[in-house]
Amino acid sequence: MTDRVIIFDTTLRDGEQSPGASMNTAEKMRLAAQLEKLGVDVLEAGFPAASDGDFEAVSKIAQKLKKTQVTALARTAKDDIDKAWGAVKDAVNPRIHTFIATSDIHMKYKLNMERDAVLAKAVEAVKYAKSFTDNVEFSAEDGSRSDRDFLCKVFEAAISAGATTVNLPDTVGYAIPHEFADMVRYVMKNVPNIGKAVLSVHCHNDLGLATANTIAAIAEGARQAEVTINGIGERAGNTSLEEVVMTLNTRPNYMPMGTNIITEQIYPTSRQVSMITGIMVQPNKAIVGANAFAHEAGIHQDGMLKNPMTYEIMRPEAIGLSSNKLVLGKHSGRHALREHLKEMGHDLSDEELNIVFTKFKELADKKKHVMDEDLEALVTEGILRTDEVFKLEYIHVTCGSTVLPMASIKLLINGRASKSANYGNGPIDAAFNAISELTGTESELQRFSVSALTGGTDAQGEVTVRLSENGLVALGRGADPDIITAGAKAYVNGLNRLEYLKKHPVEQTDVV
Ligand code: KIV
Ligand code: ZN
Repeated sequence: MTDRVIIFDTTLRDGEQSPGASMNTAEKMRLAAQLEKLGVDVLEAGFPAASDGDFEAVSKIAQKLKKTQVTALARTAKDDIDKAWGAVKDAVNPRIHTFIATSDIHMKYKLNMERDAVLAKAVEAVKYAKSFTDNVEFSAEDGSRSDRDFLCKVFEAAISAGATTVNLPDTVGYAIPHEFADMVRYVMKNVPNIGKAVLSVHCHNDLGLATANTIAAIAEGARQAEVTINGIGERAGNTSLEEVVMTLNTRPNYMPMGTNIITEQIYPTSRQVSMITGIMVQPNKAIVGANAFAHEAGIHQDGMLKNPMTYEIMRPEAIGLSSNKLVLGKHSGRHALREHLKEMGHDLSDEELNIVFTKFKELADKKKHVMDEDLEALVTEGILRTDEVFKLEYIHVTCGSTVLPMASIKLLINGRASKSANYGNGPIDAAFNAISELTGTESELQRFSVSALTGGTDAQGEVTVRLSENGLVALGRGADPDIITAGAKAYVNGLNRLEYLKKHPVEQTDVV
């Protein structure tokens, strides 16, 4: 390896902009700790000017992480930069990330500013950020659609003003690889002081080209990649961390650059992001999808048995996909559970282990074989979800072809018990009616999907819901051997997320 690419993870900022993906502070802190374990160099923890919740989460993460650089996003306004600095200042190596759009279309219609004014604003913002820290990143929003010479002029001025990283975003996911590579080459050649800064790229996936563009840019000299786990993010998402890192790892002949990522932590991190945000990973997703290492065709299976490299370009173990899919049962003890969870990437405290162990025993009474997918659901419900306003205590449902479906529910609402019964078209309708009556909420159920976590008729059902209320959108997820209970858990989880959003209103910003 001759060169290192800085991995800048923005799962908690741009990733959180995926519809319904909002996370509370405790969830963000847990993910931040996992991202540090994964080895990301820079972690963009949020956009403090957007909401008090973001400010709080960024500052707690900055205080918690021991080696990762923590950064926060800020527009070029002083107030934004003050808030970003206020939130990251306690980090081991705090970075301020300020941005302004440089494309003609953004400057004319969004900012209503001329080129000179944008340039001056960028310089002023970098200088102001520099008064707090040496570690300043400047992004030229919609850079890929900007006039090249103007972009170079802005980068040159930003570096002269003190920016140590300049970022070229393909904000709207419009670039194609050879065009983007050409642009990076142009910047490397035409920004005279580019040697004093790291050139970064930040791609969106609207044409499915985010990873390809990022790799093309790295080949031309970009040395920071802005990425998210599972590629989550605004619209079609951002460049996915696992794709960039594993491309560099798998093709060293063409891409002789390394990263500090501990690749064995990729899969556990991917699962944690999916569990916490409620955003499923598509089965055919590169690297971390459920089918990424599954070989269906007979001819492939035959080749795999003779030599895995016939059809496998990387080993599943390299991303932390354990071949040891241990099956636990009701006789498995606390120690076996702890060790196996650790292997899956969940290093639990004694108190957390107690919670999961109790839930594990309950599940093992109902289900003979407890699989990794079941354990993940137990950890998510028992540990990863915190700050719950509503908690499902029990649900009882009667239904069938000749009775009116009825549900009686007991919830804890801010710790106080409350019960209700209601009816509906079917058991889910009845359960959801009872819950919405008890919680006094009026969300609209936009999507409901159910699947089995594992094979077998005794499998846990997993329900995902998408709720919306007054423009707020939240995803909820729940698992249980009884699918009506799984539905009720998912609904309650979605309502908790909506409550969080109501308490932490986000200022309307123009970040993409
Ligand atoms: O997509 C984008 O342009 C961004 C910037 C704020 C870096 O997210
Ligand atoms: Zn972005």
